[in-house]
Amino acid sequence: MKLTIIGTGYVGLVTGTCFAQAGHQVICVDKDADKIKLLKSGGMPIYEPGLEELVKANTAAGRLEFTHSTQEGVERSDIVFIAVPTPALADGSVDLSYIEGVSRDIAGAMTGYRIVVDKSTVPVRTGEKVAETIKRYCKAKVEFDVVSNPEFLREGFAVEDFMRPERVVIGVSSQRPVAAMREVYLPYQAPIIVTDINSAELIKHAANSFLALKISYINAISVLCELTGGNVQEVANGMGMDSRIGRKFLDASLGFGGSCFPKDLSAFIHISAKLGYDFGLLKEVQRINAGQLDRFVKKIMDTLWVVKGKTLGVLGLAFKQNTDDIRMSPAIELCQRLLKEGAALRAHDPQAMEKARAVLPGVTYVDDMNEVAVGCDALIVATEWPVFKTLDLQRARQNLSHPIIFDGRNLFDVAEMERLGFLYKSIGRG
Ligand code: UGA
Repeated sequence: MKLTIIGTGYVGLVTGTCFAQAGHQVICVDKDADKIKLLKSGGMPIYEPGLEELVKANTAAGRLEFTHSTQEGVERSDIVFIAVPTPALADGSVDLSYIEGVSRDIAGAMTGYRIVVDKSTVPVRTGEKVAETIKRYCKAKVEFDVVSNPEFLREGFAVEDFMRPERVVIGVSSQRPVAAMREVYLPYQAPIIVTDINSAELIKHAANSFLALKISYINAISVLCELTGGNVQEVANGMGMDSRIGRKFLDASLGFGGSCFPKDLSAFIHISAKLGYDFGLLKEVQRINAGQLDRFVKKIMDTLWVVKGKTLGVLGLAFKQNTDDIRMSPAIELCQRLLKEGAALRAHDPQAMEKARAVLPGVTYVDDMNEVAVGCDALIVATEWPVFKTLDLQRARQNLSHPIIFDGRNLFDVAEMERLGFLYKSIGRG
């Protein structure tokens, strides 16, 4: 099918590329001329495992094109996907101005029937507004359908998630676009659920909020484990074997971050309040999440007493493994707090150091993770990169002035760390 994706960020670029990989003819549009130039010349604006190879292969095969012209994209496609940012405003609500702007641009470019699909994460009832806007600004007065088709991609695993979706949600207000939408997703052989538009929009916010709730729940349990000598991983394993609960997203941590959970929680709370419902449960999820970082910083301060003048090593800057994304990263916030306390920092991240430099000047960035501990008073694990599990612990012990490790991601075995002679403090493990 002929598809256009407007917005070439994480979601838009992955979506367009994976549609092309499935055999569709795809045009990716972005107003940022530099980004389009970069993509056309074979460069990548983001790090996402497996994406670069697919972009190259599909561009070479002539199935994937890039342009900065919305007009061109709308003219040459049957279905237009909106994948522009929906950033948070100061009050926790969502800035929908990009969605509104793109809706107007699409309306202005439409000369025949089009299906306009919203893929950006939006509060419930946005689809209604998109439809109203297109109707108002479409001079050609042609027919169209608006569809909500939320994405469930995890950064770092986005290509994998797109190619093998657990479900595809299609929210419609008439049956007319359903067959075409099914055809778009046919190659992925995923279960498709067709709903009304408001339900589809709610599914996205409800799913992300529930996952965030799961993390806050286990983080609350981790506090109880610390107070009683329990082990949160064992509790999570015991809970997770119940298939009604499941083990995934029960890893205690110094809190969730990223561009999705924190923003989507605030947006869901905000739209709920606007609709007349106080979603207090989700406010508690936010409170527990903020508390995790506070508790971790306190753990460091209590152990080291004074951090001013001390040098600390930090492993991990990205908000999670497999990405260079540092937006709302607990690791970055942790570094900022430690710098404010007067610590000197040596840090390493497999992908995020370049982005971190812009927000954390004054930190010494170390290319080799095994060199981070050199001359440090303690080492801190802040992101769950699997490679950190292969850290040369004997070497770290020798490099550290004092063998102290604070592990905000529970990567190492408690007994093993004690055997190696570390003072090892993790999350919710005795
Ligand atoms: C999340 C959802 O998982 C995706 O399904 C969704 O499509 C995406 O948001 C989005 O709305 O676009 P993402 O933000 O990429 O994906 O990251 P996750 O893998 O969900 O992790 C979020 C945060 O939770 C990270 O900081 C991670 O370290 C933390 N986390 C995750 C935990 O602290 N414990 C866990 O057990 C799992």
